[in-house]
Amino acid sequence: MSRCPRIVVLTGAGLSAESGLATFRDGGGLWERHRVEDVATPQAFRRDPTLVLRFYDQRRAGAAAARPNAAHQALARLSRAEGVTLITQNVDSLLEQAGGHDVIHMHGRLDQALCPACNRRWPAPQTMPPNLPCPDCATPGARPDIVWFGEMPYHMDRIEQALDRADIFAAIGTSGNVYPAAGFVDVARDNGAETVEINLAATAPGRFDRVIEGPATSTVPAWVADLLD
Ligand code: APR
Repeated sequence: MSRCPRIVVLTGAGLSAESGLATFRDGGGLWERHRVEDVATPQAFRRDPTLVLRFYDQRRAGAAAARPNAAHQALARLSRAEGVTLITQNVDSLLEQAGGHDVIHMHGRLDQALCPACNRRWPAPQTMPPNLPCPDCATPGARPDIVWFGEMPYHMDRIEQALDRADIFAAIGTSGNVYPAAGFVDVARDNGAETVEINLAATAPGRFDRVIEGPATSTVPAWVADLLD
């Protein structure tokens, strides 16, 4: 019996765009309205924690009002199949709300707070005050559990293992601007995987074996149905 193919999926902000959440680099995106160095680095948090916390409070409120779309639902279904690793760069929990299994959040999660002193994580309040104490060590100044620029993404060991063994690698709704995620396609290809990009348009013509163009809510359910049905 041939084993089922090992599939690794990487998702980006384009997956949640049709749920109403802003992407980063499209027109009107987050990095057009905010400077990364002001709101998304450890230095920014040390310099002006209130500004950073407000930025994430706004994004947390937006994510709390959003609902999973058909692409989240299709990937949630796929994540329950054997041999599938679902990685997201997104910090919303829409894949979990759609029933996603064991989603790897390599850039953290808006709905979690993190203690910089003891690394305890706990559910973030809707708005995080600048001196929120850790429930374990009582150190004040909890931060959003978000991986900022200049910090190492989470779960890289699990991700590298999955890429080593992938038969299929799919990058969905990501511009391929930020490493190491942007390099996953090269690792997967070098390990013999078939690579596919699902996006409004190809981000790097020739870099993927296949490109499926169109909005995620129509392309992703069709791609998942081809794999599972
Ligand atoms: N369907 C499919 N793809 C879409 C859709 C849609 N409806 N809308 C937008 N896209 C695509 C865009 O074409 C673009 O390629 O989603 C991608 C969004 O790119 P970015 O805004 O750069 O977001 P992302 O790739 O997730 O950014 C990666 O950068 O700033 C950091 O930590 C942040 O995780 C983020 C990382």
